[in-house]
Amino acid sequence: MAEESGAASINGLKEAIKCSTGNQDLNYYMGGGYEAGIITTIFGPSGSGKTNLALLAAVRMAETGKKVLIIDTEGGIAAERITQMLQNDLMKTEVLSRLLFFQPLSFKDQEMVFHRFSDINWDEIGMVVVDSISMLYRLELGRADAIFETNNSLGRQIASAVELARRRKIPVIMTNQVYSDFGKSDGVKMVGGDLLKYGSKCLIELQKGEGVRALLLRKHRSLMRENEFVFKIVGKGIEKVDVGASAVSEDAFASSDAKDLFGL
Ligand SMILES: Nc1ncnc2c1ncn2[C@@H]1O[C@H](COP(=O)(O)OP(=O)(O)OP(=O)(O)O)[C@@H](O)[C@H]1O
Ligand SMILES: [Mg+2]
Repeated sequence: MAEESGAASINGLKEAIKCSTGNQDLNYYMGGGYEAGIITTIFGPSGSGKTNLALLAAVRMAETGKKVLIIDTEGGIAAERITQMLQNDLMKTEVLSRLLFFQPLSFKDQEMVFHRFSDINWDEIGMVVVDSISMLYRLELGRADAIFETNNSLGRQIASAVELARRRKIPVIMTNQVYSDFGKSDGVKMVGGDLLKYGSKCLIELQKGEGVRALLLRKHRSLMRENEFVFKIVGKGIEKVDVGASAVSEDAFASSDAKDLFGL
């Protein structure tokens, strides 16, 4: 669903191509959708909907006929969930065949996946998803002797992802779990924070509430949003929740100091 038409150019600087998030209301909130050419990082606590959002965009992209590379580092993606999200069950086999999965089991394997990208026919690829960039990184960081090399590897992977998004003009969607910082009340930290903060031109925070979730645009190249986008996860994907009608208050969400912690 890349909207190539109407992409105006100012002295060679093109307007960003947008790809559907899989939900019209969220597309509107996001100024059209996820931007091609950059990394978008979706971060939030466990169960906040990161995988759902990334998968929804991937399935909708595959439904347009393009392929999607999905690096699933957590084994968090269920085939059943993909099937539920399909708009047309008759297209199931074709759509599933366009989702190309890589499932690295170690952080070293994860970096190898980025190296293998050179063999791929990029004309067919509409999007890359990394869910998540940080789980295997965190496991590797647990080894005291590996900190320097592990951080270097994360830096190389993010640099590769930045380059491929720009060169191939496709969106790269990464997810990243935050963890509580027990030294700071209610604080959350984004793993590998600075590297991802600077590598991602769009940062989306998810917060988990009771039955509903909030999405906050923390960094964007051309948008400033005062209000969060409140949604719930449903079979086909996500649905906007009208905050006024359902009286969802900000207090309903787990509070996070991510904004302060990242200086966003
Ligand atoms: N078909 C469905 N209908 C409604 N809710 C669903 C459906 N499938 C999954 N969910 C909800 O999605 C939530 C999990 O979301 P998701 O896996 O996207 O979280 P996450 O942020 O990726 O978490 P983690 O960091 O642990 O990977 C669960 O609370 C689950 O109830
Ligand atoms: Mg997940």
